[in-house]
Amino acid sequence: MAETTILSIVDVTKRFGGLFAVNDLSLDIHEGEAVGLMGPNGAGKTTLISVISGQYKPEIGAVIFQGHDISGLPPHRICRLGIARTYQIPHPFINLTTRQNIAVAAMYGKGIGKTAAAAEADKILDIVELTDKKDVRAKDLEALTLKRLELARALATDPKLLLIDEVAAGLTEVEIPNFLNILKRIRSMNITYIMIEHVLKVMLEAVDRVTVIDYGIKIAEGTPQEVMEDEKVIKAYLG
Ligand SMILES: Nc1ncnc2c1ncn2[C@@H]1O[C@H](COP(=O)(O)OP(=O)(O)OP(=O)(O)O)[C@@H](O)[C@H]1O
Ligand SMILES: [Mg+2]
Repeated sequence: MAETTILSIVDVTKRFGGLFAVNDLSLDIHEGEAVGLMGPNGAGKTTLISVISGQYKPEIGAVIFQGHDISGLPPHRICRLGIARTYQIPHPFINLTTRQNIAVAAMYGKGIGKTAAAAEADKILDIVELTDKKDVRAKDLEALTLKRLELARALATDPKLLLIDEVAAGLTEVEIPNFLNILKRIRSMNITYIMIEHVLKVMLEAVDRVTVIDYGIKIAEGTPQEVMEDEKVIKAYLG
């Protein structure tokens, strides 16, 4: 079966003043793929995701989603086209419950009414295994649950492409298999994802290939196993 490209990042550069956070980076993602994004702190991973999701406009280059140039479109337009992201630092509506937060995301992302959004929220609560926390206000959730709520809110917008920014950070050994199950469920929903993650076990089990960036530049690409043995990668991580 021929592979269909869902996303092409073409020679993208995003600067902050004189700093090249993403530097002439290209990357193609196929439909149905799970791709890992790795790199040391400050490598430009989150910035790249922010360029894809429309928070930043690239100074140079383009982001092509399903054949359309989306570079520079506002985030809500990109979300409606089917790209959702999580944030490294969760920012839910703190006075709303878990279920309400997810419903709001569904209303925003899918343009549906309150009743449909509530039903959608219940489905998502199941998928991310948060049903037991559905009536807890976001301000009373612990950090790890908040990260899972981030994932839930992104899923509620019904994405074709999901951008996951360090959702597994802080999970214990015991909690990781559970998180991997959630990712499996997401894959079975035909959602393509790009995942930033430092937890190696998650990378090894939940992505098909990995792109490693350092100082905004792609330094390695391959299977999780391959990149972890790559000398450039080891050097980048050791500094
Ligand atoms: N809004 C901003 N204004 C100025 N500089 C920024 C901004 N956002 C990020 N940077 C800088 O751009 C570079 C890339 O940051 P980014 O957050 O993309 O890295 P990262 O790979 O996600 O790192 P981490 O693993 O710590 O999350 C860093 O040097 C960072 O300080
Ligand atoms: Mg980051």
